[in-house]
Amino acid sequence: MENMNWSDLSFGYMKTDYNVRCYYRDGQWGELEICSSDIVNIHMAATCLHYGQESFEGLKVFKGKDGKARVFRMDENAKRMQSSSRGIRMPELPVEKFEEAVRTVVKLNKRFIPPYESGASLYVRPLMLGLGAQVGVKPATEYLFMIFVTPVGPYFKGGFKPSDVCIMREYDRAAPCGTGTIKVGGNYAASLVAGERAHSQGYAAVLYLDPREKKYLDECGPANFFAIRGNSYITPQSNSILPSITNKSLMQLAESMGMTVERRPVPVEELATFDEAAECGTAAVIAPIGRIDDLDENKSYVFSADGKPGPVCEKLYTRLRAIQYGDEPDTFGWVTVLD
Ligand code: PLP
Ligand code: COI
Repeated sequence: MENMNWSDLSFGYMKTDYNVRCYYRDGQWGELEICSSDIVNIHMAATCLHYGQESFEGLKVFKGKDGKARVFRMDENAKRMQSSSRGIRMPELPVEKFEEAVRTVVKLNKRFIPPYESGASLYVRPLMLGLGAQVGVKPATEYLFMIFVTPVGPYFKGGFKPSDVCIMREYDRAAPCGTGTIKVGGNYAASLVAGERAHSQGYAAVLYLDPREKKYLDECGPANFFAIRGNSYITPQSNSILPSITNKSLMQLAESMGMTVERRPVPVEELATFDEAAECGTAAVIAPIGRIDDLDENKSYVFSADGKPGPVCEKLYTRLRAIQYGDEPDTFGWVTVLD
């Protein structure tokens, strides 16, 4: 690892030493297994391959100035994975088992945790797959839960710098009463066409509207949306968005900074009234939005004309990162120091 240029990492896959796996068979979860191959050998008729019985998570581990590794809110990811399981009829993995798997896989790959100075982190990717040979549409009887890790840099090119997003009404990532609130692969497959179209036109992401009425803001492909107006932190409430752990944390931070938090349906037109806008998520952290182009209505909403993040986004970003890297006391109890 001596020759690694940690500061140049992007958000991509790099092979690490080990992953951990745990099978569900005969109605119960087995023991954690350690594996050095990054290949999964599964039956061609597995439910994950045909019927999308698959869920995943994403969390990060940060190395502090003190050399200690800290994982951010892993219990929240464990609980959200249980919610994904309930949503597509998979067995729930106990929170303790999820946490044990995170601790084990991080410890085994500790040489891949980027150093403090790099501003990079170790991305932890849990996933769950429906296994077994089956052709009828019904839940599998066997499952594989696994976690791999990979060192990552910023999700959006340029890191903490405003990028532009667009609104396109002809695509949805999730249905009104569908799977938008859980983290299943199908939602991301559904976002690929719109995402590629947006990228080809120079946008970092699509800002989706609510799929029922197309009147309210939902979220971006891989991140929640929030905006700042005066002393308010405003973020959409919707039945078709993922409950982001980053957003939940930022709401608490905003409140602790004396701001008012408004979590409610946000009409598209309200974009015209915001001082700042941003995407937030584990991969994205806070990704400030420079401009939102509504491609159907031929309207633009500009939040940063000078290429700089707004002051409130900047403050929230700095505080969140300080807690994650252990520079600031963890007064909210969000961080677990790993040994
Ligand atoms: N929304 C979607 C669709 C996502 O994929 C993610 C990423 O996990 C988020 C929001 C942000 O969630 P979190 O902050 O828990 O990473
Ligand atoms: C995350 O933020 O962890 C995500 O899963 C977003 C994306 C890479 C799907």
